[in-house]
Amino acid sequence: MLSLLRPLLAIWVSFLISNEAAPRYSNGFFYQDITNGDGNGEIYFNGVRLRVESLQPLVSAARGSNVTLPCYYHYEPEINGPRRTRVKWSWLPANGAGRNADETDVMVAMGNRHRSYGNFKGRVRLRRAEPGDMSLVINELNLNDTGRYRCEVIDGLEDESVTVELELRGVVFPYHGQKGRYQFSFLEAQRACEEQDSTLATFEQLFTAWEEGLDWCNAGWLADGTAQYPITTPREACGGTDLAPGLRSYGQRQRHLHRFDAFCFSAAPKGTVYFLNHPQKLNFTEAVAACVQDGGHIANVGQLYAAWRFMGLDHCDAGWLADGSVRYPIAKVRPNCGPSEPGVRSSGFPPQHQKYSVYCYR
Ligand SMILES: *[C@@H]1O[C@H](CO)[C@@H](O)[C@H](O)[C@H]1NC(C)=O
Ligand SMILES: *[C@@H]1O[C@H](CO)[C@@H](O)[C@H](O)[C@H]1NC(C)=O
Ligand SMILES: *[C@@H]1O[C@H](CO)[C@@H](O)[C@H](O)[C@H]1NC(C)=O
Repeated sequence: MLSLLRPLLAIWVSFLISNEAAPRYSNGFFYQDITNGDGNGEIYFNGVRLRVESLQPLVSAARGSNVTLPCYYHYEPEINGPRRTRVKWSWLPANGAGRNADETDVMVAMGNRHRSYGNFKGRVRLRRAEPGDMSLVINELNLNDTGRYRCEVIDGLEDESVTVELELRGVVFPYHGQKGRYQFSFLEAQRACEEQDSTLATFEQLFTAWEEGLDWCNAGWLADGTAQYPITTPREACGGTDLAPGLRSYGQRQRHLHRFDAFCFSAAPKGTVYFLNHPQKLNFTEAVAACVQDGGHIANVGQLYAAWRFMGLDHCDAGWLADGSVRYPIAKVRPNCGPSEPGVRSSGFPPQHQKYSVYCYR
């Protein structure tokens, strides 16, 4: 049977090879040049390999911006001619990583039809700037869009994927409320960060902050339900001098029972934070009213940190913030403006009848 077929196949294959314009594939298989081999018209076919690549495994973007997560596919060897390829983007959120770590669907596309899901509905599209470009464009990036995105290309033959990490440019800051240190349950910490226009920091965000020099001797909740603190200079009072610099972790803690501070993550806000020029110092209620009168709101702690970090806000004058704390941002260190590193200085939560300046947000 095979010997009968052989001449026929050889003729057909020679036709394909002699005619460059003809498609060089059939049923997803690529026919190798028959002149290799034993010269008897033998056909060797290999599966076409599907390759999916990203070129940029980590993307950092600003809140509110439109971001593109790169993903390209091609076949090896190259084939021309249309194929029915499906693309699926899914997402493993950075918040809560380690618990309920399930990927959720972001978008599926086949041909020109596509569908997006959940929080991504109407905010995502495929870029399709060139053949094989399946990059995902996300509009109006939210604080909670961070995490690992998987681009999966599905061909009848194969199914290949690549992941892209999306992080927001932001700043991590330690936070406790008016009641003092170590008062937050996990949920309260989450809420406290939200009230500061931020989210509980992820491990990766705190780690990056530590690499950039954050040193803080009070443990705070992270998004994954652990409590940790970053130490750059080991010292007796902060976990001892035996341990190398790094993040000190208490591990997973009981979310209802245990109490810590919070590490919040704030990304650059859309508006601006500014020091209100006002002829007199103000008590807290006057400060709130003065910002409203100026067409804004009293700023919160997350907004002040982001403005300090991303807009270089610098003012050596303590002002009220929305949570009743008094702080000021120093970008360029100078005498009489706090410690020898840049930072947001805090005077805690003074009694509300005391008089200070105010930082507003508009
Ligand atoms: C993001 O994309 C949308 C729709 O394409 C556009 O209207 C908007 O101006 C873009 N935003 C930014 C910050 O580029
Ligand atoms: C993410 O943030 C957006 C806007 O801040 C909000 O509408 C949405 O509910 C949040 N999604 C989740 C899953 O928390
Ligand atoms: C702030 O001063 C106003 C008077 O200008 C007063 O009515 C208000 O009670 C004061 N607020 C506080 C918290 O002391």
